[in-house]
Amino acid sequence: MSLYSEKVMDHFKHPRNVGIIEDADGIGEVGNAKCGDIMKMYIKVQDGILVDVKFETFGCGSAIASSSMATEMIKGKPLEEALTLTNRAVTEALGGLPAYKLHCSVLAEQAVQAAILDYYTKNNIPYDPSKFKDALCAHEHEHEHDEGEEE
Ligand code: FES
Repeated sequence: MSLYSEKVMDHFKHPRNVGIIEDADGIGEVGNAKCGDIMKMYIKVQDGILVDVKFETFGCGSAIASSSMATEMIKGKPLEEALTLTNRAVTEALGGLPAYKLHCSVLAEQAVQAAILDYYTKNNIPYDPSKFKDALCAHEHEHEHDEGEEE
């Protein structure tokens, strides 16, 4: 079966940076309402640099591989640079994902943004909301979904 690239399989079987950071400076939790998968990202920040990143993903193999790859891509990078990480870049770094699995990589992008947003908010650091489109929009969708269910 060659549905998944070797890189996807590698990061799925041997995910990097799994776990939690007890004294995290920011935590981002996102989920996909359709498949029910959840991703949690922990970050440690020093002088604007992501000195440590860890994740927990309760989800499919592609979500685990995507979060693992995302942590590798942003660790050691300035926050501003980490914010520009796209799900497309994660997918490319993984050597591709099947089309119906692309939403798994979107979770990784959203989780990174949500963790950085949490850090900015907790420390009263002003931020440009347009840079958090995905994280903010993930929350909006959650609400939309909740409201829809209540009707
Ligand atoms: Fe939902 Fe992969 S199937 S994150």
